[in-house]
Amino acid sequence: MKSSSIFALFAYISISAVKTHAWGNEGHITVGNIAQNILTPEVAGRVKQIFQDPSFNGKLGPASIWADEVKHKKGEYFGWSAPLHFLDTNDDPGKSCSVDKNKDCPDGNCIVGAIANYTEQLNCANGGSVKTRDVALRFLTHFFGDITQPLHVCGRELGGNKHKITFNGKTNNLHSIWDTEMVVKRIGDFGNDVQKYADFLTNEIKTGSYEQNSTDWIACDSTKRRRSLFDNGSLQRRAEAESTRCPFVWATDTNSINCGVVWDYVDANSDADLSDEYYNQVHPIIDMQLAKGGYRLGVFLNNLLGD
Ligand SMILES: *[C@@H]1O[C@H](CO)[C@@H](O)[C@H](O)[C@H]1NC(C)=O
Ligand SMILES: *[C@@H]1O[C@H](CO)[C@@H](O)[C@H](O)[C@H]1NC(C)=O
Ligand SMILES: *[C@@H]1O[C@H](CO)[C@@H](O)[C@H](O)[C@H]1NC(C)=O
Repeated sequence: MKSSSIFALFAYISISAVKTHAWGNEGHITVGNIAQNILTPEVAGRVKQIFQDPSFNGKLGPASIWADEVKHKKGEYFGWSAPLHFLDTNDDPGKSCSVDKNKDCPDGNCIVGAIANYTEQLNCANGGSVKTRDVALRFLTHFFGDITQPLHVCGRELGGNKHKITFNGKTNNLHSIWDTEMVVKRIGDFGNDVQKYADFLTNEIKTGSYEQNSTDWIACDSTKRRRSLFDNGSLQRRAEAESTRCPFVWATDTNSINCGVVWDYVDANSDADLSDEYYNQVHPIIDMQLAKGGYRLGVFLNNLLGD
């Protein structure tokens, strides 16, 4: 697990953020860059072979924002993929939080089903074309990020999109400040350098404050054995129950943050500017969620694409 963090610094921060259902570009690139740091050299080489778009430079960070761009762009039509970026729960945050796989993700048509779907398509054992595997990896790189954003696993007020708040003196909505504004503010602590932020979080995973907890992030069996789905190829099993197990565990983990963290303060302080006390409370959670997404993606790809 050699760090390849010395590579070119991508200054994607200037790319205008895509609103709607997704961590903003900065959050997605952070997740992609962390995962890139985690890849073995062998798997980094395979990733580079899979991506056919030269602007990605063979890397996960630049590829991570494609899925948002094609939701809206003309050309090859990907507008149908919009519902795959989230899961709308029918719970009641911040009073009670829960995910009901059948009710909240009908026919698997949500982020949980999408991760299972594109895992199958990326798996070379299934014989997909170069194009299929390329698109699958682009989607997965994006969805592994989105599934850690609390308001992507929240049905209340369209994941906070309809909840008006104030941030930095401006009217905004709760979803957007979680996707973008608070991430951008946090990256300000790293000289507005997304790569530096990703490297900081990678170090927290490898030898820092997440070292103990990161094992839990990839262990998605509820049994005591804590078997990771990634350990020995069981993700390759076709059984739907099996292939959605990890993303369902992650969605449930993310959803729980809506109770206690995301909504409680907002409900109690409807007039507060959230760039102050609220931001100070929640930015450690944002750090951890982005770290989870990046670490899971890196370990997942090492297992799926490695020998
Ligand atoms: C699975 O992938 C296919 C091919 O890209 C797509 O048509 C379908 O909508 C996807 N379904 C889900 C739930 O991701
Ligand atoms: C990290 O792991 C420790 C020990 O298992 C646990 O007590 C703690 O709650 C975890 N922290 C987080 C943020 O999950
Ligand atoms: C996968 O791991 C589990 C738990 O560690 C083990 O019981 C099982 O035999 C392994 N399967 C393969 C195919 O290695």
